[in-house]
Amino acid sequence: MDDFLKHRLIGSSARFKQTCSEIQKIASVDATVMIAGETGTGKEVAARAIHYQSRRCDKPFIPVNCGALPEALIESELFGHERGAFTDAKAAAVGLVCEADGGTLFLDEVDALSLRAQSALLRFLQDKSYRRLGSGVERHADVRIVVASNANLEQLAQTRQFRSDLLYRLNVLLLRMPPLRERDGDSIELARTFLDRLSHQYRMPPKVLHPDTRAFIAEYHWPGNIRELENVVHREFLMTDGEEIRFGTAASNVERTEGKHGLFKTAKAHAIAEFERRYLSHILEKAGGNLTLAARLSGQERSAFGKLVRKHSLQNTNAIPLLSEARADASQSMNAEIASPVCAAKK
Ligand SMILES: Nc1ncnc2c1ncn2[C@@H]1O[C@H](COP(=O)(O)OP(=O)(O)O)[C@@H](O)[C@H]1O
Ligand SMILES: [Mg+2]
Repeated sequence: MDDFLKHRLIGSSARFKQTCSEIQKIASVDATVMIAGETGTGKEVAARAIHYQSRRCDKPFIPVNCGALPEALIESELFGHERGAFTDAKAAAVGLVCEADGGTLFLDEVDALSLRAQSALLRFLQDKSYRRLGSGVERHADVRIVVASNANLEQLAQTRQFRSDLLYRLNVLLLRMPPLRERDGDSIELARTFLDRLSHQYRMPPKVLHPDTRAFIAEYHWPGNIRELENVVHREFLMTDGEEIRFGTAASNVERTEGKHGLFKTAKAHAIAEFERRYLSHILEKAGGNLTLAARLSGQERSAFGKLVRKHSLQNTNAIPLLSEARADASQSMNAEIASPVCAAKK
């Protein structure tokens, strides 16, 4: 699939058109941006759109998920370190700020930054200068900072978990991504686009949505927003035999549990659960029980991975999660359990 098409912002609702024009405006000026919005609303997609429509488009766009990095490493990942700056620093590293020079650094889940890293970021935002860990040399980088969070940063600032002076600096341009349920008609347009993409991707004949399913998609409240819709459509596309896709309705739920596919689907669900369990045990063992490292090794977001681990009761219950990890988990309502809401919810 063509990269441009893949990253195109889909949606024609008045609400989303307004968002798109804000994105364009934000792209044309060179200030720090904060993107707020529930999980799956397209915050990262918006950050990319801002970068690629800005004068920085030929320079790097570097996304960093602050929630997936161990607290102790965040600062050195961002600003680099000298050789020997800490025990594992066998070689010097330039840091992501330096790599993004001329371009855009996207800090996702910015609320997960430690207070120490927050100060370093604030310093950088004030005069674009920074120091590598273990170095006294002041360096400069021309980097536009775009951050995103689905946490309530004002609230975190009130409880002093997030620096309020940093919040003001980040808040210069605020973009709010609307939840899917507030974008009239967009859910159907997105679902159709995903179906088209899937039939190309899998080289399978196109499939259409049953009228009841269209009604369901339009009315459902989509707590996981576009990511949830995309996952559900993906699964149903692959699981549906005929050319008409039907889910989310009472009738399709009955079919699922009692119909001709009941046994196969039950067996499949069991097989998937069993696979998840074995995969998680293996990767956790490999990571010495360190959740953050295990999430990294498996290429999953830290918070989603943590939920999956808890779903299978594999987490060491004696372990006390880092504050930032706990927060990231609480603020992330999406996870691998996406697989069920549509069938379970509604009507
Ligand atoms: N307007 C859009 N059109 C098409 N796909 C979108 C749009 N917004 C988001 N997506 C898709 O939805 C998923 C979630 O988007 P993402 O930017 O990662 O959300 P967030 O960062 O807010 O959790 C991604 O797969 C992304 O490609
Ligand atoms: Mg994201």
